[in-house]
Amino acid sequence: MASTHVRCMNAANKQVSYANNSSLQKIVLLKTRPLLEDTIKQMLSKVLPATCIKVADLGCASGPNTFFPTYEIMNTITRICQQAHCESPELQVFLNDLPDNDFNTVFRSVPAFKESCFITGVAGSFYDRLFPSKSIHFVHSSCCLHWLSKVPKEVENNNENVYISSLSPPNVSEAYSEQFRKDFSKFLRLRSEEMISGGRMMLTMIGRRSTDPTSKDNCCIWELLTKSLIDLVAKGLVRKSDVDSFCIPLYYPCEDEVRKIIQKEGSFVLNEIDKFEVNWDFEDNDYNKNFVFEKNKSGQNVANCIRAITEPMLVNHFGETIIDNLFTRYAQHVSEHLLCEKTKYVNIILVMTMK
Ligand SMILES: C[S@@+](CC[C@H](N)C(=O)[O-])C[C@H]1O[C@@H](n2cnc3c(N)ncnc32)[C@H](O)[C@@H]1O
Repeated sequence: MASTHVRCMNAANKQVSYANNSSLQKIVLLKTRPLLEDTIKQMLSKVLPATCIKVADLGCASGPNTFFPTYEIMNTITRICQQAHCESPELQVFLNDLPDNDFNTVFRSVPAFKESCFITGVAGSFYDRLFPSKSIHFVHSSCCLHWLSKVPKEVENNNENVYISSLSPPNVSEAYSEQFRKDFSKFLRLRSEEMISGGRMMLTMIGRRSTDPTSKDNCCIWELLTKSLIDLVAKGLVRKSDVDSFCIPLYYPCEDEVRKIIQKEGSFVLNEIDKFEVNWDFEDNDYNKNFVFEKNKSGQNVANCIRAITEPMLVNHFGETIIDNLFTRYAQHVSEHLLCEKTKYVNIILVMTMK
């Protein structure tokens, strides 16, 4: 399951579009902004003077976040060049996502950038080659690399769980971890072919704190989706066999797994690796001091966020008719969960230099 078209986010014409439900990912971008600036500064100190800096944003999606990294990178370059009294280089930005991403909306909203910034769309998987050899100075990707190229096939005995759960047989977490190792190693090898020596890469992905793959920060959000599907099985709206054969193609690694893969693959020096947390409910954030917890509202926010990123694959597997019902139940389960416990996503952030 999960061929590339169903792994895209909900398009702008959908009731719960990614464009209108990506505030959580925006918070991740805001939190990583200082490190992005520093990384660009360091990269420029190695590659200037240059006539054109080539930057790739992998997994750009479609919506208000799509141009955020481009603005930040462009502004940082302009500021640094002004301070150094030198002319800014031209900037070519490649916005990449899967071919079924809502690129029409992206292209229609290409803002009026400065004349020296050129935007290009690149449709394809970042688990394949995307750019000519030794052509890219800087690679950025936020909230994408926990998406796998496919569901590992060894998870067929995962019963009704849609992801790793405390009830999954041990081979399930091993298979997910192995699929992530293969995918991330391949990603690094491909980017090393495309990037210039001394180029930088900054990646943010969802991960987990504990080395235990059945820990809450890895499993809980998806266990609640399993619970919602099982509710629909009990109502006779979904077949149990359909739940048994459905798994999500993503994996939340721990820091140690990520570090070891980078070291073993060997093309990059790992300059920085860190973790930070964001609350499941995007409204409950450091920038919103007036936040007051309302369980139903929080549950709905989390449900919309998960719906915007999973609806195409759920429709592909279960059909369209269950979706509203499923996410009504999911919002209720999340509300009840948040009443007992404030749960957070763990994000892993890393900066690397191409050897
Ligand atoms: C949660 S969105 C993040 C989007 C954006 N970077 C942001 O911060 O809002 C993840 C994006 O990764 C894309 N994606 C997933 N797997 C991909 C792959 N193999 N190649 C390219 N893009 C991929 C999805 O289509 C989706 O647009």
